[in-house]
Amino acid sequence: MKYTSIGIHKTYLFCNPKQITGIMTKTYNWAILGCGKIARKFTGDLKTLPNARLFAAASRSLENAQVFAFELGFEKAYGSYEEMVNDPEVDVVYIASPHSHHCEHSLLCLNHGKAVLCEKAFAMNFGEVRQMIEASRKNNTFLMEAFWTRFQPSFLKVLDIIHSGELGALKMVRSDFAFNADYNPEKRLYNVALGGGSLLDIGIYPIFMSLMSLGKPSEIKTMASFCPTGAEESIMMSFNYPDGEIASLVSSFACHSSTQTEFSFENGFVRLNRRFYCPTTLSYWKAGEEETMITFEKGNGFGYELEAGHVMDCLDAGKIESDWMPLSISSDLMEIMDRVRKDAGILFPGHD
Ligand SMILES: NC(=O)c1ccc[n+]([C@@H]2O[C@H](COP(=O)([O-])OP(=O)(O)OC[C@H]3O[C@@H](n4cnc5c(N)ncnc54)[C@H](OP(=O)(O)O)[C@@H]3O)[C@@H](O)[C@H]2O)c1
Repeated sequence: MKYTSIGIHKTYLFCNPKQITGIMTKTYNWAILGCGKIARKFTGDLKTLPNARLFAAASRSLENAQVFAFELGFEKAYGSYEEMVNDPEVDVVYIASPHSHHCEHSLLCLNHGKAVLCEKAFAMNFGEVRQMIEASRKNNTFLMEAFWTRFQPSFLKVLDIIHSGELGALKMVRSDFAFNADYNPEKRLYNVALGGGSLLDIGIYPIFMSLMSLGKPSEIKTMASFCPTGAEESIMMSFNYPDGEIASLVSSFACHSSTQTEFSFENGFVRLNRRFYCPTTLSYWKAGEEETMITFEKGNGFGYELEAGHVMDCLDAGKIESDWMPLSISSDLMEIMDRVRKDAGILFPGHD
């Protein structure tokens, strides 16, 4: 199945939230679950949205929650996630814990009627994703994966080019995401118990690029290397598609890469330049013409405000699922990652 970009979304992205909705029906009380690194960055962007109220920070440690709340401007601090979900004033929770806990924490929030924006990787495996979707439906409560790249103007432009057919058929996707990560066996990047390894953390982005442009592969082949903790450190993935298209995808914590994605068509190519998951430039070449560069203006934040604004638009509209980042994309992504893991021998004890 191939996903299409919807014209209205492009309009949405170049407007601020006030212009998009026209009428802002509500200010939403946001809570953060897990006060780590990405939660700080996300909060900085959340602050730029006029209909988002920085309401509660929840951590496993009250002290950490208090420091986080004070430094970033949240009204309340909770020393446990359970206390936070029992606060009737919390509307929506951003889950920023390690992958290993996304399912458990999403279920906790959904079962307390809290809308959920959960970081990628959405869970550890397909079975966990199914549980999360069931909980969303059972509780009639909003759930979306925080896949911010889906909302970037540069990425939407690529989808438009693919679907316009102006460069002919898309035949090949090449995408890489690598950086030299400090080796710490306890921390989540290398700790298997926390979903460690490059695949779920950064390999998911090249896979997302191939899924959104070529759909689900018919065949997957991989080569992986592992570090002493048993976590996969580097992985190369080759995907084949029913109509003969191919994808070559790489992720690694062992070295730096240019972090680009190139889409090759019958009559040209398009490249999301460094860093392809939120780039400000896109290179475009059509056979017989000069290569050109399309530039995208940076918004008010890192780009996380786009997904957060979209969540509130969905809530305003009474939706429990986004049309733009539907749960089928999250399910398909995880199904592919399960197949990659099986081929590469990547194990997550307790989550297989
Ligand atoms: N979208 C993006 O651009 C992006 C970027 C980076 C990371 N992420 C995603 O965000 C998630 C968190 O990444 P991060 O880099 O922010 O990680 P991090 O700095 O390690 O923070 C994770 C937080 O989760 C909480 N937590 C709950 N249970 C835990 C456990 N058993 N062990 C460790 N921490 C636990 C902790 O907060 P408390 O102690 O406060 O409870 C911790 O600070 C990951 O799923 C990652 O893939 C997304």
